[in-house]
Order: sequence, then C-alpha cells, then structure tokens
Amino acid sequence: MARELSLRLKEDFTYKSGRIIGSMCSEPHPFAKKIFANYLEKNLGDSGLFPATAELEKEAIKMIGSLLSNDKASGHIITGGTEANILALWAARKSARKERCQVIVPASAHCSFDKAGELLGIKIIRVKLDNKFQVDTKAVIDAITPSTIAVVGIAGTTGLGVVDPIVELSEIALDAGLYLHIDAAFGGFVLPFLRDMGNDVPVFDFEAPGVCSITVDPHKMGLAPIPAGGILFRDEKVRELISWNISYLAGGEAKHATIVGTRSGASIIAVWSLLKHLGREGYDRIIKRCMHLTWKLADEIPRIRGLEIMTKPTMNVVGLTSHTLDIKQIAHELRLEGWAVALFPRHIRIVAMPYMQEKRVDEFLEDLKSVVHKLGQ
Ligand SMILES: Cc1ncc(COP(=O)(O)O)c(C=O)c1O
Repeated sequence: MARELSLRLKEDFTYKSGRIIGSMCSEPHPFAKKIFANYLEKNLGDSGLFPATAELEKEAIKMIGSLLSNDKASGHIITGGTEANILALWAARKSARKERCQVIVPASAHCSFDKAGELLGIKIIRVKLDNKFQVDTKAVIDAITPSTIAVVGIAGTTGLGVVDPIVELSEIALDAGLYLHIDAAFGGFVLPFLRDMGNDVPVFDFEAPGVCSITVDPHKMGLAPIPAGGILFRDEKVRELISWNISYLAGGEAKHATIVGTRSGASIIAVWSLLKHLGREGYDRIIKRCMHLTWKLADEIPRIRGLEIMTKPTMNVVGLTSHTLDIKQIAHELRLEGWAVALFPRHIRIVAMPYMQEKRVDEFLEDLKSVVHKLGQ
C-alpha cells in the first residue's frame, strides 16, 4: 500500500520540496505531527467523553488569547479560518437580533465572508481600500445603515498581509454600537512576535476595546497540523450567543458553539502541545527567519527589470506585479518551472513560510528572472 500511495500521490506538491511558494499553510511542525497521530480517537463533539481534552482546549484558547492581549478570551480550535469567520458573523447576527442585516467588510476580505453572508442571510458590503491597501475608514462610516450589524477588519490580508487600522475601526464600531470582528487568520501568529522583536506593530487585537472576536489560525503560521483554525471571543458571553445544547451524546449533555459536531481532539492537543513546546521564543525565532526571507524577496524582486512589489511587506507576504508584463503569464511560466505561486487579480502572492530554505528562495529568484527575461523578449 505504501508503494501504491506514493505512486498515486506523486503529482501532489510537497512543502519539503520548497516549491510551494505561495501558500499560507505549512508543513506541520514535526513535534505536533507526532502528538496529533497519538490522539486520533479524541472527539470534542462529545466533550463529556473527553473532558480532559476539553480542558486543554480552554488552556490553548487562553494561551492564544494572551498573545492577542486577552487571556479571558473564550473560543474554540476549529476547522479553519472559514469556519471561524462564519461563527463570528453568526454571533454578530445573534447579538444584533435584526431581521435585515448587513456586514461591512474591506474589499480585501477573504471569500469566507461571502460564504458566511449566503449561509446566514447577511448582505456583505465590501468597501474600498486606500492607497496603502488598508480599508478606507471613511468608506466604512459612509456604508453604515440602520441594517448594519457588524464591521470586519483584517490583520494580515489574504493577498498582501496588510493590517487594517483596527483602532479606528474599533472607535467606529463603538460609536455606532456595532460588533467588530478581526480576521487575523494569518497575522494572528505573526504580529505578536513581530511586536516581541521591537517592531512598531499597531494595535490589532483585543487591546482595541471594540473588538468582539478574532479569527486566528494555528494551521497557518502556528505550524499546527490541519485542521486547526481558531475563533476567539472577547468573553464567554459572546461565545454563549451561538451555543447549542446537545442532549443525545454518550458523554452526556454538551454544548456546541461550532458549526461541526464531531470534531478533532487531536488537533487541539497538538495545538496545546506545540504552543507549550515552542513558547513565545520559539515562534519569535521562526518569524525572524521568515522575515529575513521576506526582505530578501522584497529587495530582489524590484531589481528584476519589469517587476515591482505592490507595497512594502508588513509581514511575510510579498505581492509581485508588473506594469509591462502579464502577471498571469508569469504565474503560468513559473508553474511550468515547478513553482506553486498564488495568483490574484493584480499580483502574484509569495509567502515566506517557515519551511522555506534560503537556497530555494535563491533558486526561485533565478527562475523568476529567466521567466521575465523570456516573456520580455
Ligand atoms: C485572512 C484569511 N481569513 C480566512 C482564511 C480562510 O482560512 P481557511 O482556508 O483555513 O478556512 C484565509 C485563508 O487563507 C485568510 O487568508
């Protein structure tokens, strides 16, 4: 079977190859992989059977909460950023109790908000960005109507890793009595460590008083095995809004505040263990390396004639673009050379993830140069 599987899966990309250069997910940390494999039977859908695992989830949420300036946060380790964003809008809708609801999101928001909108019957209003690719806060204010129930800010956009002005959004939300959700699916495991290193990181988390919930995914920059998304609510009261009593379980009555019922306890145990194993210093070291590679990419790309970067990186995401060449063709040619980059409407996204080695980044830059040269002829 091992031989058959290795043949059947040959066409898949691997993180080990260093050729996945545009993904926000990562090879899980080897320590977390081992832990995960040991606890596959744990099911937090039936927390009465696994109360000790449920306790570790509470502790993991507390640890992530303290990274995000709130160790009183309540929440869950779930399937991913999509589920987290759906849960947040669900809580917002429950707290607003309005018939017709609208949620204001930046134009840069992840498509999971559109999914949430359809599922929950919420109209998603996308508002424009300013010239730094941050949400235009005046456009947010102008978009507020009596049907508005929530505003979303992003701390690490999917396309460029940009952080919205969260403090301003917090003031807007508090003034208008609106729920504020922050999508830090990617940035939540980057910004606290950039701050540790003395970088000037603007407030993006629960320190802003209007923030009601935050998406923060251990399976992106947290290096945990998939599935491990995270939803953190400011306190238990917010989580309770979407809590359901489930009566039929073998472990006795339980409460679910997730979309799925049966869910992986192994993910949670792996996240808890990895947070303890790496500690803040471990993540600091990882982010430092990622940022070294980021600056290399951001310095070298504009030296290639015809290429530029969209904006100075805030975190380990670089947007590559061109005024003279078709970026779709560049992405296509890179794919033919065996590189998996991510294509956006106006740019190619490169993410300097922890598994990336400097020599692979050098090879990528060489191949990029050749591709651009070929297309420019
Ligand atoms: C900012 C942001 N939010 C949410 C998501 C969705 O996360 P997932 O794919 O884990 O559902 C992503 C995915 O990249 C993202 O970049």
